Amino acid sequence: MNKLIVLIIILLATNHLQAQQYDTIWLSSLDISKATLGWGKAGADVSCMGNPISLNGVIYKKGFGTHASSVLYLKLAGGSAKFHAIAGIDDEEKASSGSAVFKIYGNHGLLWQSAVLRSGGAGAAVDINISAIDTLILCTETTADGPNYDHTDWADAYFLVKGRQPISIDRPMEPGVIMTPAAPLSPRINGPKIYGARPGNNFLFRIAATGERPMTFSANGLPAGLKLDSHTGIIHGKINTAGTCVVMLTARNNKGNISRKLTLVCGDQIALTPPLGWNSWNCFAGAVDQQKVKAAADAMVNSGLADHGWSYINIDDCWMVKPDSKDSILGGEVRDANDNMNTNKKFPDMKVLTDYVHGLGLKTGIYSGPGPKTCAGFTACYQHEEKDAKRFAEWGFDYLKYDWCDYERIAKDHSLPELKKPYLVMKDALGKAQRDIVYSLCQYGMGDVWEWGAEAGGNCWRTTGDITDDWTSMETIGFGQAGHEVFAGPGHWNDPDMLVVGKVGWGPELHPTRLTPNEQYTHISLWSLLASPLLIGCDMTQLDEFTYSLLTNDEVLDINQDPLGKQASRMVQNGSLEIWAKDLEDGSKAIGLFNRGLFPAQVTVSWGDLKLSGTYTVRNVWAQSDEGRFDKEYSAPVPAHGVKLLRIYR
Ligand code: GLA
Repeated sequence: MNKLIVLIIILLATNHLQAQQYDTIWLSSLDISKATLGWGKAGADVSCMGNPISLNGVIYKKGFGTHASSVLYLKLAGGSAKFHAIAGIDDEEKASSGSAVFKIYGNHGLLWQSAVLRSGGAGAAVDINISAIDTLILCTETTADGPNYDHTDWADAYFLVKGRQPISIDRPMEPGVIMTPAAPLSPRINGPKIYGARPGNNFLFRIAATGERPMTFSANGLPAGLKLDSHTGIIHGKINTAGTCVVMLTARNNKGNISRKLTLVCGDQIALTPPLGWNSWNCFAGAVDQQKVKAAADAMVNSGLADHGWSYINIDDCWMVKPDSKDSILGGEVRDANDNMNTNKKFPDMKVLTDYVHGLGLKTGIYSGPGPKTCAGFTACYQHEEKDAKRFAEWGFDYLKYDWCDYERIAKDHSLPELKKPYLVMKDALGKAQRDIVYSLCQYGMGDVWEWGAEAGGNCWRTTGDITDDWTSMETIGFGQAGHEVFAGPGHWNDPDMLVVGKVGWGPELHPTRLTPNEQYTHISLWSLLASPLLIGCDMTQLDEFTYSLLTNDEVLDINQDPLGKQASRMVQNGSLEIWAKDLEDGSKAIGLFNRGLFPAQVTVSWGDLKLSGTYTVRNVWAQSDEGRFDKEYSAPVPAHGVKLLRIYR
């Protein structure tokens, strides 16, 4: 036999042998439901929208369809030799502007990273040796243009395996360590230090105080027209003349007494600090009813949350009649003979409900919208604005969330005058209602609402779409607030949507938040730094200890409620590490050291980053303890997706 032929036979045989030694395991054959996605559904051999995987005109039979930001953890245990895939943005969003970066980590190190890949562009091939890898992490990350249309595919993705087969695993979840120290038995006064009310309107303020009961209260310097119930700490009445006064509040119990100043500003402005409360949507959504709202009010008081300053109990969508509904509970006449809006049968008596909530010293909110219907298809205010505002005031509501949704059918376009119009109409209607009603604009940030929300009468305005209880949603929304700080201040706040800690679920079924404990610390710390309205989104009758600790740290809440009313700015952005800082009334600064990455990192803030110099006392806000005096800088380890929240003093 000729030598060449012998060589070819030997080569073919070796190749055959090698091919036999490796199994091809398609990534899509693993349990990819363990992946976390920014939107849509993890697709086995399909995109996140369920279409065939298609990159740059090429259809792939195999692959893993995701949406940035996405993460999938895989356990290889050294059994896989190679990972292959074509990374790219699916053609189903070719006409849009999706863009993302693909990353692969192995044993805590970055193994591979794509350039920024864009809709309609070529995919990037990845072929990496993973024989020494135990845990492999496939990630897709959004870029500066945000998560919209980032339909990220790992096309043609497979492992060459010899021995241990790869399996997908849950992302690691650290235990929820409680950092908030328990409040002492001696009295402590919490909540806002400044409070705005309008002359001639009903006034209600519950002194928030922790400590052993019974407790008695006194208030020195209350303006004429206000009365304090010394047993409950509830102040009510009417202030008839505009002006500012400083009231000295005192709380007393067997263990001692404490006094604190409260500045009362009687004028045009309300919501001088961001509203603190609860809203029914993130837990109950359409399953809300009068009993649940009453139970929420009871829970806010009985759990002790109200003693930390939480005060609004807000009903979201689905309390009104649903036009044309055959359901005997939801359907019926949408308005009465006098054109007043009716409730559905789940809310038999709004006045009884608001009286109940007010009796506890809490305030209460309602929801509607400028369109004919609400987002969930219930009756809204279109062409009845004045009547409805009057009705909300007569019922005794103190907060109105006004949601664009169905007004989309009415608006001619998204020009600024069209976006503003319905909000100005309700502003005028509320102006005539003679009640202090916090006006919350909800239109998801259209037309850069932060630039004109205050002018449209808003005490706060949603800057984004709806939040959900996952890391991508929360981090994209929260960290996406950078730059909006110039538009926030006392009486007018940016609102990055409600909290997603505790048991949420958009009803009727609830589940514990899918945020990890560190992500929850990030959520509460960031929202506090952002001077955002804080609306608890969970079922308060089912508060666990960890969630309770997140919501009752007075030093954290003080940052949110600081009378100066500044929203934090992003001072440093270094890859996944960010430093945010908020100026506070006493000259100190609140600082968040954030780690948005998948692995723990050391984060250093230099005083120069904050335009400061010299020596500062650094306080660990969650632990409520000083870390010492630091010259020039402070450095601390920050867990993955976690935060270290500081306050620094001269
Ligand atoms: C919109 C809002 C949510 C909630 C629902 C109610 O989606 O953004 O916060 O109010 O409507 O239908």
